[in-house]
Amino acid sequence: MHDALRRMLDLAREALGNAHAPYSRFRVGACLRAASGRFHAGCNVENSSYPVTQCAEATAIGAMVTAGDRQIAEVLVATEGPELCTPCGRCRQQLAEFARADVLVHLAGPEGVRLTVTMGELLPLAFGRETLGPLRPSDSSGSA
Ligand code: THU
Repeated sequence: MHDALRRMLDLAREALGNAHAPYSRFRVGACLRAASGRFHAGCNVENSSYPVTQCAEATAIGAMVTAGDRQIAEVLVATEGPELCTPCGRCRQQLAEFARADVLVHLAGPEGVRLTVTMGELLPLAFGRETLGPLRPSDSSGSA
């Protein structure tokens, strides 16, 4: 395991430890390695109104964008039980906004990384900004 991946696993597990998941009891931690070299982690944040729940990947993406990064170089999602957390459909679309199809997505359990796939495998035929043609923003910030 390369150093960055080791660090991603550590940060994802640390985030998982802070997960707010009293309803599902399924704690998830995610870590993104940005192209800048920085790491951004997040956990799932549930709500008593169940559909309001935020996935760990979404929390990590929010942290990444808030910190000023826009390009995901690698993704890791960690769980603590026997079941891996393959990113849900919404998370796949959210990740694809900032990750090219060749970006690796590592799925880890308590023993470490168990499965590695690409964004393209997770979200084939993705709907992306290029589909919007001339309507797409000229830069990533959305500012005028
Ligand atoms: N969850 C994630 O954090 N990421 C996913 O990609 C799928 C599901 C969380 C949401 C909820 O808190 C718990 O897992 C059970 O669905």
